[in-house]
Amino acid sequence: MLTPGEGVLIDVHAAGVSFPEVLQTRGEYQLKPPLPFIPGSEVAGIVRAASPDAGVAVGERVAAFCALGAFAERAVAPPFLTFPLADALDFAQGAGLILNYHTAYFALALRGRLRAGETVLVHGAAGGVGTATLQVARGLGARTIAIVSSDAKAQIARDAGADEVLRTDGPWKDEAKELSGGGVDLVLDPVGGERFTDSLRSLREDGRLVVVGFTGGSIPEVKVNRLLLGNTEVVGAGWGAYALARPQLCREIGQALAGMIEQGVVRPLVGEHFPLERASEALLTIDERRATGKIVLDVQTND
Ligand SMILES: NC(=O)c1ccc[n+]([C@@H]2O[C@H](COP(=O)([O-])OP(=O)(O)OC[C@H]3O[C@@H](n4cnc5c(N)ncnc54)[C@H](OP(=O)(O)O)[C@@H]3O)[C@@H](O)[C@H]2O)c1
Repeated sequence: MLTPGEGVLIDVHAAGVSFPEVLQTRGEYQLKPPLPFIPGSEVAGIVRAASPDAGVAVGERVAAFCALGAFAERAVAPPFLTFPLADALDFAQGAGLILNYHTAYFALALRGRLRAGETVLVHGAAGGVGTATLQVARGLGARTIAIVSSDAKAQIARDAGADEVLRTDGPWKDEAKELSGGGVDLVLDPVGGERFTDSLRSLREDGRLVVVGFTGGSIPEVKVNRLLLGNTEVVGAGWGAYALARPQLCREIGQALAGMIEQGVVRPLVGEHFPLERASEALLTIDERRATGKIVLDVQTND
């Protein structure tokens, strides 16, 4: 879909499964391709064919974002969203690298203007975007406070490198203010819903709340007098459409993340694996809120 001219042809070893794919299969995603179509937005595998200026070579291990068509044995991705896969990562981790980590970097560094030494509060911190955000924030030199709804998710947030972990069923706003010495610098919110007002209250002056998604179901409304009184900001971060129109930005984010992979800060957490033919079960795992870590389809290639 992103490659009307020429793309990189990849033998898929693993395909990532995430929330947007659940929406795609229901026709509820912003992209509504004509039926029938192959869902799936990201893969890791081996380059089968690429033009000389693609930046990756035939036989190279890569992670790539193709927007559609990833739940397949072969996928095509644009060169600007195809990146060499570091030896430190396996194919399953590579299949969890682009959507969540590029979003996290975009939301924190570019939209949220995060600086080293600042404190970030991360909602949905055991989820795909959440775990990526915990790691990228650390890579940017920030301290993190993870918000989660269960003990199992608390463990995942710790495994992802959270400095502090708080529970949604506790007084997390007051705890976060205390842990950050008066208020956090940035809130990253993929959940939305009722906790939004407390998120605003947990910010210090000059703090930013970055809106990334609405897994909680409802889209919050802001009483803008709160922003005036607190000297705070609410900022939107929609990676897809913005990044796809800016190939150079995608390459720069890829480079920044490659540095964090090399430092050992970025390590996608993989949860359940499913074979390609059980993709519908993989989607249900996400839909029913049972997913922890990145859900991955193992794909057999017919070489
Ligand atoms: N803006 C962008 O560019 C961009 C890019 C990628 C994804 N997204 C969006 O970001 C959101 C998060 O994606 P994700 O892949 O991180 O999802 P995920 O792995 O399923 O995690 C979402 C988290 O949301 C929390 N949550 C709260 N209420 C929920 C509910 N009713 N149902 C399900 N989860 C609920 C859960 O944490 P607790 O149980 O701990 O609360 C869960 O761990 C999605 O809306 C996705 O579409 C946006």
